[in-house]
Amino acid sequence: MVIEFEKILGDATRAIEEAKNFSDLESVENRLLGRKSGEFSALMKNLGELTPEERRTTGAKLNELKDKITTLLGDRRRALENLAWDKIAETEKIDLSQPPLPERSFGHFHPSTTVQRELEDLFTSMGFMVLDGPELESDYYNFTALNIPETHPARDMQDTFYIKGHSIGDADQWVMRTHTSPVQIRAMQKYGPPLRAVIPGKCFRNEATDVRHEHTFYQMEGIVIDRGINLSHLKGVLETVARKLYGEKTELRMRPKFYPFVEPGINYEVTCFLCEGKGCRLCKQTGWLEIGGAGMIHRNVLKEGGIDHKEYSGFAFGFGLTRLVMLRYGIDDIRLLESGNLKFLAQF
Ligand code: FA5
Repeated sequence: MVIEFEKILGDATRAIEEAKNFSDLESVENRLLGRKSGEFSALMKNLGELTPEERRTTGAKLNELKDKITTLLGDRRRALENLAWDKIAETEKIDLSQPPLPERSFGHFHPSTTVQRELEDLFTSMGFMVLDGPELESDYYNFTALNIPETHPARDMQDTFYIKGHSIGDADQWVMRTHTSPVQIRAMQKYGPPLRAVIPGKCFRNEATDVRHEHTFYQMEGIVIDRGINLSHLKGVLETVARKLYGEKTELRMRPKFYPFVEPGINYEVTCFLCEGKGCRLCKQTGWLEIGGAGMIHRNVLKEGGIDHKEYSGFAFGFGLTRLVMLRYGIDDIRLLESGNLKFLAQF
């Protein structure tokens, strides 16, 4: 058996160098060193025909040849890899004269949502639940249960959109809720005392709109019911909220105001954040900004909620969330907030 080692090595070297890509190289490798049908395996099989002495020397030479071919294959594989990277670098050239890509714009929360979430965090830190209620509300919950019977003049102050001719459940008169106060009764009926909850949500009124009035706006209601609750607790909570929103120096002022569902009722104002109480255009030279209404929950309302007014007392407050947003960001026309104008909203 004559093996032309030099010729085999020469042919293998040429074939390996001519491989243009990884698949060519794989075919060459299989042809030369493949276990079943490779040229090298065929030579090894023939070793059996030789004498033991010849087998030792020829076997050693064949192993040397195999090592050389394996090294050549490895070198070629690395060269092809380098070529591939060169090609990628060529196609991915950086052109420094190119204009930059347009900045990606990420969405963000509407300012009303931001303020609402901040307040929800504050109230939950004080042990309040955050509740929700229906926007299409029964006349009973929106007015009657809140001590505003059908003929009460307070209904005129909160004129709304009546849904006529539909009876749903046991109510035959439905309205778009004018405030978040109906959820007071729903919460009392569902959870009973003691109770601590805030209710943010959308409200609707049949309003001639102007810079401070919208037909659709947001309020946040608050309610606390327990034994021994009084007006000083209410003042403490409202002051905490005002200072969180407008800074530590903010003062709170409470003045009597009539609401049929509280007794006594108050309206509350905070130091104007713009002039710090000196008087300016925003606060109409008074130094105070009105935030909302509040008071001790009327015994008739507690009764409607199924709560014994002799054992429990409570306070409630309701403020215009949309107005707070205006004051917080210095927005001078409420109608911008729900206008869907992205140029306006992108500022916040
Ligand atoms: C009420 O709606 C009472 N439910 C608040 C309340 C709750 C009092 C609990 C006592 C106890 P009023 O109508 O004043 O009250 O509205 C409260 C706030 O909602 C106002 O101070 C104002 O900030 C906001 N608001 C009322 N109407 C509008 C409107 N059309 N557009 C924007 N904000 C409004």
